[in-house]
Amino acid sequence: MKASLLMVALLSAGVAFAGPPAPHQQGIEGKDYKWNAQGGEKSEALSKKGDKKAGAEGYEVCGACHLPSGAGRPDGTFPQLAGQHTTVLIKQMADIRAGLRDNPTMYPFAATLTDAQELADVSAYIESLCIPIEHGKYEGADAAIKVAQGKELYEKQCLECHGKNGEGEKEKFYPVIAGQHYKYLLRQMTEIRDGHRRNANPDMVKVIKPYTNDQLIAISAYQSSLVMPGNMCKPKAGAAKKK
Ligand code: HEC
Ligand code: HEC
Repeated sequence: MKASLLMVALLSAGVAFAGPPAPHQQGIEGKDYKWNAQGGEKSEALSKKGDKKAGAEGYEVCGACHLPSGAGRPDGTFPQLAGQHTTVLIKQMADIRAGLRDNPTMYPFAATLTDAQELADVSAYIESLCIPIEHGKYEGADAAIKVAQGKELYEKQCLECHGKNGEGEKEKFYPVIAGQHYKYLLRQMTEIRDGHRRNANPDMVKVIKPYTNDQLIAISAYQSSLVMPGNMCKPKAGAAKKK
């Protein structure tokens, strides 16, 4: 535990970690890519019932970057995780470990979380955390215009999967978007459009392929304005847990 925290400090300071390199899979770049193919440790972790209490302990090391509340950072370096569906969390962790999604900063930590039960526990804990109300939004002078443009695109092309309030869909592995930081959203949108997030969903890629940079800004501005009633932290409750 102490050693892991030291590793976080070193990594955050940009010191190279001398571990084995992350594997690399073609994913969406390849011909035979099947999104969310089941099997292996992902299916094993998905089949376990997560224990939130045990997960709180396992989450400690994650909190060094994603914060103990799960809120991440408004500058977009570390995404907001609180309230995310367990299915999405488990899939993303498994994909990062398998080399389907690049995350050099986090890879050494993802690589040590090998136990399926532990992965289920940590995911159950993160899902139980309330979504912070305060997070990174689009701050340009034209914010009102951008949000309105983004809303139009979102309701036409994204709502069917990510929901009216950005709630996603647990059973289908569609992520929660509400509460996410603008800068992280814009980075993901760009990487997904340009084919660099190799675990992306092909149907979503089709939708955003023709988007201009300006449209990606607008859609990210709108997404960062979404709130999920019932799942947000109470005002002033800070990092308090849901219920
Ligand atoms: C050294 C910092 C660091 C630590 C420690 C860390 N992460 Fe991360 N994590 C990141 C970064 C950076 C990203 C975003 C990468 C990107 O832009 O795609 C990320 C992304 C994620 C994502 C994807 C989020 C999404 O919305 O798709 C999940 C899930 C995640 N982390 C879970 C965890 C868990 C669970 C742990 C503890 C076992 C952990 N992280 C520890 C840095 C860290
Ligand atoms: C067919 C369903 C579908 C449609 C339509 C769709 N998405 Fe997605 N989206 C997904 C899935 C599935 C993922 C997770 C991919 C993975 O497994 O990594 C995702 C991932 C994302 C992410 C990354 C979330 C994170 O935490 O890293 C963002 C942001 C996003 N979608 C926004 C949008 C927007 C905006 C639109 C409309 C322009 C859209 N999506 C359309 C299914 C969809």
